[in-house]
This record gives sequence, C-alpha cells and structure tokens, in this order.
Amino acid sequence: MKVTGSHRSTIFIAIALSLIVNLLLLPVTESAQCKAWLVQSIPTDMPSLPRVPGVLSTGDVLKWLASNSTERLDVIAQYWQLIAHPEDPRSGDFGYSKEDLQRFGAQEGASVYSALENAADRNVTIRLLSHSGVYPDYTTEPTNLASGRPNVKNVTLLLSDWWGSGIVHTKVWISDRRDVYIGSANNDWKSLTQVKELGIYLVDCPKIARKVETYFDNLWKLASLNSTAHTTTVSDQQWQIDSSPFPGSVETRHVAGYPILSDPYMFKLPLQTPGYNDSNLQPKSSYLSFAPPELSFGRYQADEQAWVETIKSVGIGGTVRISTMDWLGQSQYLKQTVYWASLSSAISEVVFSKKATVKILVAYWAHFINSTDPYLKSLLYSNVLCSSSKYNHCAGKVEIKYYIVPGFNLTGPAATANGTDTGNIYPGYTRVNHGKYAVSDVRAHVGTSNLIWDYFYTTAGVSFGTYKPAIVSQLQEVFDADWDSPYAVPVEELGEGGSACSS
Ligand SMILES: *[C@@H]1O[C@H](CO)[C@@H](O)[C@H](O)[C@H]1NC(C)=O
Ligand SMILES: *[C@@H]1O[C@H](CO)[C@@H](O)[C@H](O)[C@H]1NC(C)=O
Ligand SMILES: *[C@@H]1O[C@H](CO)[C@@H](O)[C@H](O)[C@H]1NC(C)=O
Ligand SMILES: *[C@@H]1O[C@H](CO)[C@@H](O)[C@H](O)[C@H]1NC(C)=O
Ligand SMILES: *[C@@H]1O[C@H](CO)[C@@H](O)[C@H](O)[C@H]1NC(C)=O
Ligand SMILES: *[C@@H]1O[C@H](CO)[C@@H](O)[C@H](O)[C@H]1NC(C)=O
Ligand SMILES: *[C@@H]1O[C@H](CO)[C@@H](O)[C@H](O)[C@H]1NC(C)=O
Ligand SMILES: *[C@@H]1O[C@H](CO)[C@@H](O)[C@H](O)[C@H]1NC(C)=O
Repeated sequence: MKVTGSHRSTIFIAIALSLIVNLLLLPVTESAQCKAWLVQSIPTDMPSLPRVPGVLSTGDVLKWLASNSTERLDVIAQYWQLIAHPEDPRSGDFGYSKEDLQRFGAQEGASVYSALENAADRNVTIRLLSHSGVYPDYTTEPTNLASGRPNVKNVTLLLSDWWGSGIVHTKVWISDRRDVYIGSANNDWKSLTQVKELGIYLVDCPKIARKVETYFDNLWKLASLNSTAHTTTVSDQQWQIDSSPFPGSVETRHVAGYPILSDPYMFKLPLQTPGYNDSNLQPKSSYLSFAPPELSFGRYQADEQAWVETIKSVGIGGTVRISTMDWLGQSQYLKQTVYWASLSSAISEVVFSKKATVKILVAYWAHFINSTDPYLKSLLYSNVLCSSSKYNHCAGKVEIKYYIVPGFNLTGPAATANGTDTGNIYPGYTRVNHGKYAVSDVRAHVGTSNLIWDYFYTTAGVSFGTYKPAIVSQLQEVFDADWDSPYAVPVEELGEGGSACSS
C-alpha cells in the first residue's frame, strides 16, 4: 500500500497553518451563537418507529444549506444521485413508475438538486468534491452543476492513488463558512427517504466550519497533486502491512502505527440546542475527528481514537449505545487482511471494568456482509468471559441487535433490462440503517465511517462529537426508538451458557 510522503505533509501543514493564522488575525466576533440539531432520515413505511421530537429531516437541512448560502458552498460526497433514474437499466431505480417514485419520496432529492442549481445561479462560489467510479453516472450531477458556470468547480479524488485503497466516503456540506452538515447521508435521493440516516446540523458555527473547511481544502489539494511524486511505501508494525504515512526522505524499514493523542483539540463553545430543551447551559467540549489519520495533523483525534474514547467515556454502570451499518473486526478491501480489535477491545474493557452495558445496532439488509455475524458472536462471548471466574466483579454486558428495515429483501430494480418484472418493491440499495454514531452517558459521536478497519485508515471520513448533555440525551432517544422498535431483533449468542454475566 502506498502512502504519502514529505512533500504532501509539508503542503498540509502549510495550509493548516495559514488558516489557523487567519483565524487568529480575524477578530472573532461571534454575535450569533452556535446551534446544533440532530438530523435524521427515516425510510417510508416504518409505522412502528416512534419519532423523536426536535430532530430535523436530512432533506430539509440540505435544502436549507443550499438555499441559505450567499457566498460559498463546499460539498464532499462519495457519489451523486439526487435525481432518480427509473429509465436507466443500470440503475437500482429502473422500472419504477412516477407514482412509485412519488411514494418513495424521490421528489425530496430533486428539490435538493434544484436548491443547489439555484445557489449556482446566484453566483455562490461552489466546490464539489467526490469519489468516482462506482456507477456510470455517479459524477454526472456535479459535472452538470459545474458545466458552464465559472463559480462552480468539481473534482474527483481517488484516495486509492494515495493510500493504495479506500475512497472519499465523507458526507459534509459547509455553507458560507458558518453552517455545516456532517453525517451518514449520501447525496442520493434514497438517503433522504429510503435509507435511515443520522447526522448533525451546526448553524452559526464559523469556528467549527473553518476547521472542516481546512480538511476540505486539503482533500481538494490532494486531488490536484501527483500521488506518485508524493508517496512511498513502508511497513507498518501495528497492522502488519506495508503501509503508513512516511516522509519519503527518511530511511526506515517500518513505523509503529499512529500514536494516540493525549490531549486532542476540543472546542469549548457554548452550543445551543433549539431541538431539545436544555437546562444545562454550561459550555461543554466538542470535537472534530478525521480519517485517515494523516489528515488529522497530529492535532485532532483520528476517527478511530474518537470512537474508542467515546466508548471509554462511559461512567461506572453506564450504557454505551452504538449504531452502525457495517461491523467487522478486520479490514474489507485490502490485499493483506488486517485484524482489527480496536472497537471490540474498548467495548470488552468497559464491560469488564466499568460494569457498562453496551448496546449495538447493526444493519441487516440486502448487502449484509456475512462475516459480520461471527464477529458479533465473538463480541457477545465477552459476556461469557466476564462471568467466567468467581473472582471477576463483572456486571457489564454486551447486547447486540440487527436492525431490519421492512422490505429490505425486496430491493432492486423493478424490472430487468428486457422488461421482465423482478418482484422488487423498493429501489436498489435502500431499506437499511446507514447511520454511524455512538453515545455514552456523557459523550455523543456522529460520524460518516462504517465500523471496518478500512474506513479508519484508508478512507476519508469526518465526525463531530460533543459532551453537550442535550445532544447526548437526544441521541440516546434516537437510538432507543430504534432499539425498542419491532425492527430490531437480538443477535443470538454462541452455543450454550451464553447468558449475560450478572453475579
Ligand atoms: C434557512 O435555514 C433555516 C434554518 O436554519 C430555515 O428555517 C429556512 O427556511 C432556510 N431558508 C431557506 C430559504 O431555505
Ligand atoms: C460572480 O462572483 C464573482 C466573485 O465571486 C465576481 O467576480 C463575478 O463578477 C460575479 N458574477 C456575476 C455574474 O455576478
Ligand atoms: C467536472 O465537470 C466538468 C464539466 O464542467 C467535467 O468535464 C469533468 O469531467 C468533471 N470533473 C470531475 C473531476 O468530476
Ligand atoms: C508523477 O510523478 C512521477 C514521479 O515523480 C512521474 O514519473 C510522472 O510523470 C508524474 N505524472 C504526471 C502526470 O505528472
Ligand atoms: C420545550 O419545552 C416547551 C415548554 O415546556 C415545549 O412547549 C416544547 O415543545 C419543548 N420542545 C422540545 C423540542 O421538546
Ligand atoms: C451470504 O450468505 C447467504 C445466505 O447464506 C448466501 O446466499 C450468500 O451467497 C453469502 N454471500 C457471500 C458473499 O458469501
Ligand atoms: C423478507 O423478509 C421478511 C421478514 O424478515 C420475511 O417474512 C419474508 O418472507 C422475506 N421475503 C422474501 C421474499 O424473502
Ligand atoms: C429477460 O431477462 C431475464 C434475465 O435477466 C431472463 O431470465 C428472461 O428469460 C428474459 N426474457 C426475455 C423475454 O427475453
């Protein structure tokens, strides 16, 4: 696997410093206070899922970000498909009627697209950064938006040129250097009404927006650099692969992973939560974390550290709630497979020593990764180990459920290319819980990465986290609504004697 070299590091540091310097020089006159809302997409036809009041809808938020922007709009997306393509046989939308699409909510995506078009026509400076190559027309929309408009720029960034594998998987919108969306929703109409998503909407938060913009600028810069000239290959002792970032000019045979930061950067901002009544108005710490770790400048937490520390933030006897689409204790796309126990170790540690309950919701859907189940069962075995000795004072437990959105097994195009009916009743790649977040009793973490090694080490992702009690409580409510719904079913423990430790 290839990694980046000294030139790139230098460029990155230079960019980061120039922005930080700008921030110091500008008098920070934040008259308006930073506000945060949780944002969800809830698939149609889930009548038994209670709605949590005060949570915004992804479609509304993306429309507002585009409609309210007056100067700048920066968007990072994996791919684009805001407009449905029922006429394209290559599309998972193929063969559905106008009425079907109306029922699915496809018009939400179309209206986000037209809000972007309007912003482009208002001469807002727009930058669109995407991954590419998944599907023939996934770059059509940004290309069309940029076409003939000097104020709109679009680039494709292939992370595999830099990290040897991986993609841009970040989902971020930044408007006027002030308002930000970070979350699981793709720039896809299905992410608004057919896929369950979770994100955060930050309004009047220039400090946070500028930091996210620095990350954006760095990805943008990478897209214009020649990766061959700036990368080198070394052996990584932590993951036992040929990898790791390394100055090309230094002669060494190996590196030892990425050091954990003992004092990661935190914002001590007062944060209002108009979507949740809050009696605690004390300023609390919030943070950003980034993947891959090279993009954290050694100053911010890498995404993995932020996940691990969210799990470990739980108090004695407290509860950690984790919601994810994918879960694997290894890598998925590398030539050399990496064994990755970082999250499962953190979970077992708090189950053992903090008597914590850890509840995990994992998506079960049409593209479920089969090897997820043995990894989940292995994690559930912590319950057996926890109570395996009379000397253990172990009262914690792991509970895991699959999240099954009804209709998941009837997804795909409605017809084959020759017009034969497939029997599917929802478009392809829908009916899935796609949110990626964790919340302990004190800290909430909202991310864009799936819980598989690759997303933390070779794929671009961003998270926002906070100790703000209102966000923590409301995110717990969002999780509990899913967990307690009929759509969540327990994952069975391995063999017998699998009862949770409780003595
Ligand atoms: C601008 O955003 C606010 C919420 O932040 C929203 O209430 C308002 O409708 C938006 N304006 C437009 C034109 O979308
Ligand atoms: C659009 O904005 C740019 C600067 O941001 C300006 O130079 C240009 O004249 C504007 N174009 C129109 C048509 O307003
Ligand atoms: C960006 O848009 C232009 C059209 O304006 C298109 O030719 C080009 O392929 C797009 N580039 C990328 C990198 O997506
Ligand atoms: C990229 O850099 C490599 C190594 O320095 C060089 O051989 C190659 O020609 C460069 N490619 C481009 C497109 O400039
Ligand atoms: C906040 O409290 C007020 C008054 O008690 C209530 O009317 C309102 O619905 C609450 N808002 C939320 C988001 O819970
Ligand atoms: C996953 O398991 C299902 C059911 O046992 C099987 O049909 C499918 O082929 C498996 N997929 C892979 C990629 O192994
Ligand atoms: C789809 O899943 C549901 C519930 O999990 C099951 O009852 C139904 O038989 C499945 N349908 C098909 C076509 O597999
Ligand atoms: C249409 O394609 C399907 C497979 O995609 C095939 O099973 C079926 O026989 C074809 N029907 C006709 C009429 O060609």
